[in-house]
Amino acid sequence: MKVGFGLVGAGLIAPFHARAILASGKGELVGVAEPDEARRAKFVAQFPCTGYASLEELLEDERVQVVNVLTPNHLHFDAVMKAAGAGKHVLVEKPPAMSLREVDEMTARCQEARVKAGVVLQCRTRAAIQAMKRAVEQGRFGRLLHADTYMKWFRAADYYRMDAWRLERRFGAGVTIQQAFHYIDLLYYLAGPVARVEARMSNLAHPGIELEDTLLAFVDYRSGAQGVVQASTALWPGTDVRIELNGENGTAIMVGERIETWRFRDERPEDDLVRTYGRAGAATGATGAADLGFEDHQRLIEDMIEAIETDREPMIPFTSARATLEWALAMYQSARLRAPVELPLADEAQVW
Ligand SMILES: NC(=O)c1ccc[n+]([C@@H]2O[C@H](COP(=O)([O-])OP(=O)(O)OC[C@H]3O[C@@H](n4cnc5c(N)ncnc54)[C@H](O)[C@@H]3O)[C@@H](O)[C@H]2O)c1
Repeated sequence: MKVGFGLVGAGLIAPFHARAILASGKGELVGVAEPDEARRAKFVAQFPCTGYASLEELLEDERVQVVNVLTPNHLHFDAVMKAAGAGKHVLVEKPPAMSLREVDEMTARCQEARVKAGVVLQCRTRAAIQAMKRAVEQGRFGRLLHADTYMKWFRAADYYRMDAWRLERRFGAGVTIQQAFHYIDLLYYLAGPVARVEARMSNLAHPGIELEDTLLAFVDYRSGAQGVVQASTALWPGTDVRIELNGENGTAIMVGERIETWRFRDERPEDDLVRTYGRAGAATGATGAADLGFEDHQRLIEDMIEAIETDREPMIPFTSARATLEWALAMYQSARLRAPVELPLADEAQVW
């Protein structure tokens, strides 16, 4: 029996989920909830399934076992609470929600309802990142000294004007919580947790749009390692993201999804294979919102199916994404206060 999926929101990211479900071979795309009639019609014409005007109607469809929450960031909370309340498993796009309080309530609701709850942070599944994670766990870096990301992307003003929510910081449209969230998450996954951040945010290339298109931050990890987060959507034409890890005994650098540098003092036979990981020129989002492949999403769809079938936690549970959200919120707080901020974040009420 295939697992039935229902999507909430038929915007930019929805086709990636639809393709991932279809390609999994074990999932069935049952329906989509989308209030915008034209978007709904276009989506069901491209991916045949039942179109619903509201989430509530989708939740009444008994074929739907998993709800993929693909609404604007500030609306995730409402959809997750309702889906879990209806006894559906939930796969929510990043960021999981806009506050830690929301994530905690979502987690509790999913636990009470005994449903699986996963977050779409698909970059974690990339072969290069998995190789870096193994090297960290095997202690191959020795003491980790630096963990950095450089995301020099470009989004034209038209991207922001496409939908009202993309113009509002409090709806989660700034570069920190929207585009850079993936790479902050990778640093958390590889080098976290974080002890302290000092961030500066600015708008370099999108006049008239009241949000940060650029983030610069210094990070102190709890391990003692240091790091830099540099993220922007102002830098035309947009180049591949870099993730860089440096330790006493090794350096690993991913560019796009490709391993660019893989050097350890204890060279191992498998290292030559790791150096071939990732496809050069693979679409990873640098130049536009539609500049992505769906294979990473497919791995998380397949993970959710397996989590249901074997009754285990999904690969990226809410609690794991919560830590990344806390770090992102701490950077907003730091930029606002123009001062370093310690984690755990003492007061998130001020952030938005
Ligand atoms: N994982 C990734 O790489 C990636 C890439 C792009 C976007 N995203 C995430 O996906 C989510 C959606 O982004 P997008 O670019 O597709 O946005 P979008 O604005 O293109 O699409 C969102 C859709 O949700 C619909 N919607 C709003 N309220 C709704 C409701 N109550 N019920 C049902 N539908 C509703 C809107 O009408 C819209 O069509 C965001 O959380 C974003 O961060 C993730």
